[in-house]
Parts: sequence; C-alpha cells; structure tokens
Amino acid sequence: MKINDALNLRHSRRTYLDCPMSNEDAKKLCDAIQKCNALSGLHMQLITEEKMAFKGSMFKNVRNYIAMVGRGDDITREKCGYFGEKIVLFATGLGLGTCWSGTFNRAACRFDAFKDEILHLVIAIGPVRNKMTQRESVISGISHINSRGRKKISRIFGDAPPWFWSGIDAVLKAPSAMNRRPVTLSCNDGEITASISGKKDYEYIDLGIAKLHFEIGALGGDWEWGNGGTFIVN
Ligand SMILES: Cc1cc2nc3c(=O)[nH]c(=O)nc-3n(C[C@H](O)[C@H](O)[C@H](O)COP(=O)(O)O)c2cc1C
Repeated sequence: MKINDALNLRHSRRTYLDCPMSNEDAKKLCDAIQKCNALSGLHMQLITEEKMAFKGSMFKNVRNYIAMVGRGDDITREKCGYFGEKIVLFATGLGLGTCWSGTFNRAACRFDAFKDEILHLVIAIGPVRNKMTQRESVISGISHINSRGRKKISRIFGDAPPWFWSGIDAVLKAPSAMNRRPVTLSCNDGEITASISGKKDYEYIDLGIAKLHFEIGALGGDWEWGNGGTFIVN
C-alpha cells in the first residue's frame, strides 16, 4: 500500500482482536522500527503480548504497543511524532490498527531505556476488525466534534502553491492529542513553517506528526526540526 493511501485509511483504533499479532507482521514492524531508530536516534521498541499496560482503560484487548523511548528534550519529542507516525502508516499498510496513547499504566509498561532516556508515550498496535465496533465509532465521533478545519490551521501571506493545500489536507487527517490539531502551518511569500504554542502536553509530538503528514500530502520536501521549522522544497 502507498503511504498516501495509508494516510487516508488510518483512524485511531481502540478495540483489538483478542489474538496475537502474526510473527510475520511483528518482524516487518521490528525491521521498520530499527530503520527509523537508526535515522533518528530514538529507541522505539515493539512490545508484544503484554496485557497489563492498558488493563482497565477505554482500550480493549491491547496486547502489543510501541514504546516511544528517547531522550527528554523537545526535538526528541518531535522526532517521536514524526518517526512514530511513519510506523503507524506502515502498520496501516499491513492492515493493523493503531492508536497513539498518553493514557496507560506506565508502571506496568515493559521497555528498555538508557540512563538519559524516558518513555514518552506508547502506540497501541495489533490486528483489528475492518469495521470499527459501535463503541469505537462513538468515541471517534466524540473526538472529532471540535475538529479544526483548513483555515484554523493555516496562515497565508501572499500566494500559496497548490501543493501547500494538499499538505494542509493531509495534516487535517493526522492524529493529535485530544484531536486538538495544535499545529499552525504558515506560508509567507512561499516560505512554509510549522509552529505550536508549546504550552500543552504532547504538542511537540503533534508537531512531528503534522510535519510528516504535510510532507506526504505535498508529495516531497524536508523539514527543519524545531518549533517554527521551515519546509525545504526538493
Ligand atoms: C500524542 C497523542 C496522544 C494521544 N493520546 C490518546 C489517549 O490517551 N487516548 C485515546 O483514546 N486517544 C489518544 N490519542 C488519539 C487521538 O485522540 C486521535 O488521534 C484523535 O482523536 C483523532 O482521531 P483519529 O486518530 O481517528 O483521526 C492520542 C493521539 C496523539 C497524537
């Protein structure tokens, strides 16, 4: 599946099938995670058959998650968003369900970390039914009630190229904590930047996710890391 198709198909899933992930999928995920870790310096890990971290939560049957481990600075948080979402879209292409999550039992979570690293958050992952359960649809509906549209997440000074709007539409499909969509993309006489207020939890994660979605929607380009980072057209 092309990454663009995965981006259009993805929705957060909160009910998983009560069965293990196939060894084949686990191997493909581990390979993709290893590649992203090598590029980013993150320490993401696929944890399988661990049922306690989501026990008693609104999620059902979570047995697997990706532990988003890395250093404790803002650029690392942003990289967690960017590279974690790459894995989310890869997993969508494998037919797996995913959901970023900041609410889980940290004490029960299984992961390795070096001295200077922390567990930022996790991504629940696993086999799902094609169709959302009624309960999942209700939660998803509630989380989208206050969704912000094109105008709320963009600022234009002068003209914006057509691919800027394809980038924006891809950002509108990005997951974000509480669906707040806190990232503003500005186009100032052709110079594109992405920024957040940086005042709420997980905004740097949302920034990294939004940057990846913009890049995919715009069909190329690279981002400078950081709040207010510039999009480099290539
Ligand atoms: C950083 C981050 C943290 C999140 N934390 C939670 C969470 O704790 N619980 C939850 O149910 N969903 C969580 N989500 C999922 C969002 O609620 C979801 O992405 C948003 O409502 C948009 O829905 P969608 O992903 O289906 O487009 C989180 C998403 C992100 C990016």
